[in-house]
Amino acid sequence: AGEAKVAPVGFFSKYPALVTGFFFFTWYFLNVIFNILNKKIYNYFPYPYFVSVIHLAVGVVYCLISWTVGLPKRAPIDANLLKLLIPVAFCHALGHVTSNVSFAAVAVSFTHTVKALEPFFNAAASQFILGQSIPITLWLSLAPVVLGVSLASLTELSFNWLGFISAMISNISFTYRSIYSKKAMTGMDSTNIYAYISIIALIVCLPPAIILEGPTLLKHGFSDAIAQVGLVKFVTDLFWVGMFYHLYNQVATNTLERVAPLTHAVGNVLKRVFVIGFSIVIFGNKISTQTGIGTAIAIAGVALYSLIKAKLEEEKRVSLSLT
Ligand code: 3PG
Repeated sequence: AGEAKVAPVGFFSKYPALVTGFFFFTWYFLNVIFNILNKKIYNYFPYPYFVSVIHLAVGVVYCLISWTVGLPKRAPIDANLLKLLIPVAFCHALGHVTSNVSFAAVAVSFTHTVKALEPFFNAAASQFILGQSIPITLWLSLAPVVLGVSLASLTELSFNWLGFISAMISNISFTYRSIYSKKAMTGMDSTNIYAYISIIALIVCLPPAIILEGPTLLKHGFSDAIAQVGLVKFVTDLFWVGMFYHLYNQVATNTLERVAPLTHAVGNVLKRVFVIGFSIVIFGNKISTQTGIGTAIAIAGVALYSLIKAKLEEEKRVSLSLT
C-alpha cells in the first residue's frame, strides 16, 4: 500500500513519432492508389461529377455500417454543430468535385502540380482573410512555388484551361475548408467529424451531378463504359475508388489530429510528390523538360517555405518562453 503506481506505457504511446509516421505512410499509400484507379476510370468513363458522388456515397455507406457496429460509436450531433460543419462540408464538396473535373481533364501529375500551390493560398488567406501578418521572408519563399507551377503549366502537354482553373478553384475551396475547420473545432473525434462531413458533402454533390451529367449518363455514359470494360469491372472499380477515397481522407483527418496544421500541409505536398512520380510512371505520361524542372522548383519551394515557417515559429516559441 502507498506505493506509487507507474502507468503502463505501451509501445505506441512510447514512440508517438513512429505512430505519426505510420499515419503519413498509410495516407500516402491510399492516396497513390486512389489517384491511379481514379484516372483509370476517367480514361473510360469521363464523368467527374458522377464519380465524385460515388466516392462520397461509398464512404457514407461505409460510415453508416461502421456506426451500426459501433466502430466507432456515433457521436451525437445537434443543430449548432451542424451549423459549424455545413460550411466545412460545402468546401470539401466543392474542392472535391473541382479536383475531379481537373483529374478527368488533364494528366494527374499536372492537377497535383497546380494543387501544390495550396500552401500559397493558405498563406494568402491567413494574411488577407484572417488578418494575420505573414513575414516578408515567408512570402518570398513562396515565389519559387508560383514560378515553378507557372513554368510547369506553360509547357504541360496535357494542359487545358478547364483542368487548370478547376484545380485552382479546388485550392481556394480547400483553403476555406481549413479556415472553417478551425472554427468547427469541437470536442468530437476526427473520425466522426469526417463521417458527418461526408454525408453533408454527398447531399451537396448530388444535384449538380444529376443536372449536368444525368441525361448523358442515361443516354450512353453507362452503356459506353460497360461496353468497354464490362459491368463487373465497372462496378468494382467504382466501389474500390470510393473505398480508397474515403480511407485516405479518413487517415488524412486522423493525421491532422496528431500534428500541427503546418506539418499536415507540408505532408500533403510531399504526398503530391509521390502521386506525381507514380502517375507519370504508371500512365507513361510524357512531360517536357521545362515541366519537369518547373514541378521540381515548385516542390523545392514548398520545402523552403516550410523550413522558413518552422524556423519563424521556433523563434516565436523561444522568445515567448524567455519572456
Ligand atoms: C479529391 O478527390 O477530393 C482530391 O483527391 C483531393 O485531392 P487532395 O486530397 O489531394 O487535395
